Amino acid sequence: MTKLHLELTGVEMAFDTPKGSFIALDNINLKIKKGEFVSLIGHSGCGKSTVLNIVAGLLQATKGGCILDGHEINSPGPERAVVFQNHALMPWLTVYENVELAVQQVFRKTMEKQERQDWIQHNLELVNMAHAANKRPGEISGGMAQRVGIARALAMKPSVLLMDEPFGALDALTRAQLQDSLMDIQQDLNNTVIMITHDVDEAVLLSDRIIMMTNGPAAAVGEDLYIDLQRPRNRVALANDPTYVRYRQEVLKFLYEKQRKLESIAPRRANKAAEASTERNTGITARF
Ligand SMILES: Nc1ncnc2c1ncn2[C@@H]1O[C@H](COP(=O)(O)OP(=O)(O)OP(=O)(O)O)[C@@H](O)[C@H]1O
Ligand SMILES: [Mg+2]
Repeated sequence: MTKLHLELTGVEMAFDTPKGSFIALDNINLKIKKGEFVSLIGHSGCGKSTVLNIVAGLLQATKGGCILDGHEINSPGPERAVVFQNHALMPWLTVYENVELAVQQVFRKTMEKQERQDWIQHNLELVNMAHAANKRPGEISGGMAQRVGIARALAMKPSVLLMDEPFGALDALTRAQLQDSLMDIQQDLNNTVIMITHDVDEAVLLSDRIIMMTNGPAAAVGEDLYIDLQRPRNRVALANDPTYVRYRQEVLKFLYEKQRKLESIAPRRANKAAEASTERNTGITARF
């Protein structure tokens, strides 16, 4: 986990809106090492999905850019699998076929047919969705569809896994199981993960690093917190671990205190369009 492989430099993202240019991100700089598990955390509308979409190659930064293993990212690629915030499955394909499509794309030439079938089955089992393999997205719940999205992404064995609130729609037990699976898989494959979450405990439990973003418009990296907790991590054992508790408090402090100070210090490049299009979530809980 030493090689630098993903780098965002001076990333600005300005969207054209009917009221003019809206600067969502301003000068985002991030250096991420191979195998690092990075969480992005910040208030609703600050620009987390926009950062993820730039790394996915779905959006092109208006200034600066993103380099992966020496190559500039300007389009999507199978080495960067995305679990979308709104699960985004193909509605006309079954659960199995949705995963199959991704597996075909990546492993058509390197895996035999039987091997591919076993691999699809394995990934569906991992997210407890094998029983619904023949259902279509319209016939399953949002949480189930989210799990299929996770299976599809993992089945691609991506070098970079991009996850936009992957566990948000799941019940507590399923979420805990999938978080544990994700930690195991990531340890095995040493893939780089960038995960957006609104859950402070999830961020501390899973991450090597938590990037806390300032509120938009013109959002930037407010704080970069390294989580120095040994792996494998056990949620029950960590619950009362003083280091874990301290990290958790640091994140909460940023979100509810420092964030406000940063907002009042930093003059924002706000404009009318920005004010009109920024939406804030002010609910204060451990999931914020
Ligand atoms: N295509 C677009 N055109 C105009 N504005 C956009 C566009 N996409 C995003 N924005 C704006 O950019 C800002 C950041 O949006 P983004 O979706 O990245 O936020 P987020 O941090 O992921 O929020 P959430 O936690 O609610 O998912 C928001 O103010 C949003 O309104
Ligand atoms: Mg988002």
